[in-house]
Amino acid sequence: MIPPMTILITAGPTREAIDPVRFLTNKSSGKMGYAIAKSAADQGHRVILISGPTNLNVPDLVDYIPVESTQEMYDAVEHWIKKADIAIFAAAVADYQPANISEQKIKKDAETITLKLVKTPDILGSAKQKFGYQGVLIGFAAETENLEMNAREKLKRKGCDLIVANDVSRKDIGFDTNQNEILLISVDYIERPPKASKQHLSHIILEHAVELAAPRDMD
Ligand code: CTP
Repeated sequence: MIPPMTILITAGPTREAIDPVRFLTNKSSGKMGYAIAKSAADQGHRVILISGPTNLNVPDLVDYIPVESTQEMYDAVEHWIKKADIAIFAAAVADYQPANISEQKIKKDAETITLKLVKTPDILGSAKQKFGYQGVLIGFAAETENLEMNAREKLKRKGCDLIVANDVSRKDIGFDTNQNEILLISVDYIERPPKASKQHLSHIILEHAVELAAPRDMD
């Protein structure tokens, strides 16, 4: 029997407001993160799901924390991660946000307008380095080229124990589909499970997460 653990999961896209009625976002449906949340809750773990806006039903028995912007997701993760044994960052976080949010709806006066964007905070990269998190840290890598090399670089740069990498240039897998094909990369190993449903892959990801957490529990 695996002892129940506390698992924090980020999921879905984030939304960066431009004005009161417009925002920047991406194609993430949240399906992968929600599938992991469901598998973890079904196995009796405590799940904290911090999610951007999606059309999905929140799985039963999950502590659900809805957020919109990257900053809100950052603040929620900073608050909750202290309680986690495992943290899985499946959210497709916006990399940039508008430098200024217009208080009023932007009017269509000018022929062209320029939107100045500034970097959002890196939530995954802050987990160990800023929040002092010491549990198992799992990130995702959405890549359109050099999948393995880019994923390895992210593993190191963000201090992760495991990276779940997928090729988002393929139409049959990844963003907004039910299927996925992933690479699991840790410092010690690489695994290529066959293409499968996100629900099935969520079990595999969870198995790896729990196994990575096991030696720490013995300390
Ligand atoms: N991530 C995060 N906060 C950000 C950006 C990304 O927590 N501001 C997390 C994602 O949830 C994912 C991982 O970092 O687990 C990698 O996200 P990805 O978009 O692939 O990488 P980036 O860090 O954004 O780098 P790049 O876009 O340059 O590949």
